[in-house]
Amino acid sequence: MRIVLGVGGGIAAFKAVSLLRLLTESGHDVTVVPTESATRFVGTATWEALSGKAVTNNVFDGVPQVNHVRLGQEADLVVVAPATADLLAKAAGGFAGDLLTTTLLMAGPKAFFVPAMHTEMWQHPATARNVEILRERGNTVLEPDSGRLTGPDSGPGRLPEPSAIFEALASFLDGTSGHGQLAGKRVVVTAGGTREPLDPVRFLGNRSSGRQGMAVARAAIEAGASVHVIAANIDVPIADGATALRVETAEQMQRAVMEQLPTADVVVMAAAVADFRPAEVSDSKIKKREGQTDPVIELVRTPDILRGLVEERDSAGLDVLIAGFAAETGDAGGDPLSYAREKLARKGCDILVLNDVGGGSVFGEDSNAVTILSAGVSETSSARGTKDEVGRAVMTRIAALMA
Ligand code: CTP
Repeated sequence: MRIVLGVGGGIAAFKAVSLLRLLTESGHDVTVVPTESATRFVGTATWEALSGKAVTNNVFDGVPQVNHVRLGQEADLVVVAPATADLLAKAAGGFAGDLLTTTLLMAGPKAFFVPAMHTEMWQHPATARNVEILRERGNTVLEPDSGRLTGPDSGPGRLPEPSAIFEALASFLDGTSGHGQLAGKRVVVTAGGTREPLDPVRFLGNRSSGRQGMAVARAAIEAGASVHVIAANIDVPIADGATALRVETAEQMQRAVMEQLPTADVVVMAAAVADFRPAEVSDSKIKKREGQTDPVIELVRTPDILRGLVEERDSAGLDVLIAGFAAETGDAGGDPLSYAREKLARKGCDILVLNDVGGGSVFGEDSNAVTILSAGVSETSSARGTKDEVGRAVMTRIAALMA
């Protein structure tokens, strides 16, 4: 594989020397791009000797090869270790002032960050936000180790050992465990829209296609989870690698998902569940007859599956992260975000993904824009793009909460 090893200017740069060795000795083609300040910790000669390649961070070196574009484009992986607070901020902000940052801009989701810095810097809201932004974009940002730091103090912020970084990179590269953030976890996703029968041929339904739910399932598979989909009337194929059960009504969906709850680590309720069903279901097709008054359909409430899941989890003491979706439109009573906050509190789930469907353009479309709310956190994050990109942002947020 072609790997770019970006090295930030921190004392942990010395550990990147061992990482470089592990990467080259396992047959990878590694180009090292240290920042200017990284070369004050470990000199260019060390990187050149160990990688067997010329080393620079200057975009004006090798101009005929257009290095600032080529390196990121051709790389299978761009790993930044140590990723300093400054580098994380530059990457999150899209800065492109040197060869490493231009390479990161070109690499997109192939960029992999291994942070190392002082605890105060790591825990600063600005750094936390930058990490969140990168993860939402589909980048992997490892959690730093906790332990002795540069000075006499200790806490989270240590660069993980090179062997641990190497292992995380190996699972990223072989793709079997995707980004590996949910390796070993069991994720249950509901998708589609329930149909509540009126008679053998008619039903009350909704326009959900199941695309967003299936994209969430795919993102969970990519992140290494084993995934079970509970699908109601979807227009899309079941995600490759997932097991699935097809259901029709809210009641069937509730039974199916409750059955999965005790063995799940995460449940994502992406399905559009009907809130009401016809009180009576006719055994035969309802006929119109001459002189008959227009029929009135009486509706009754369906179970609130999400709320029921949260109650069952809490009463059984299960350790399951539960996420809901909410399609909202604003009206005179409030805006979509305030309705979503209220819904997050009312349902008691851990995450609520808000879909602003004001324009009605979400159903069946291939792109989406969402705001992700977490219980007990006033900050929200937003994701916009294809439903797959949004699915990844949702799973990344879930993985971050689980970590
Ligand atoms: N949901 C559910 N059971 C229902 C209705 C909804 O589990 N009977 C879930 C959906 O899958 C979604 C979340 O609850 O994850 C929010 O759905 P939404 O229809 O927005 O919520 P409602 O409770 O129906 O709220 P509203 O009063 O706004 O319709």
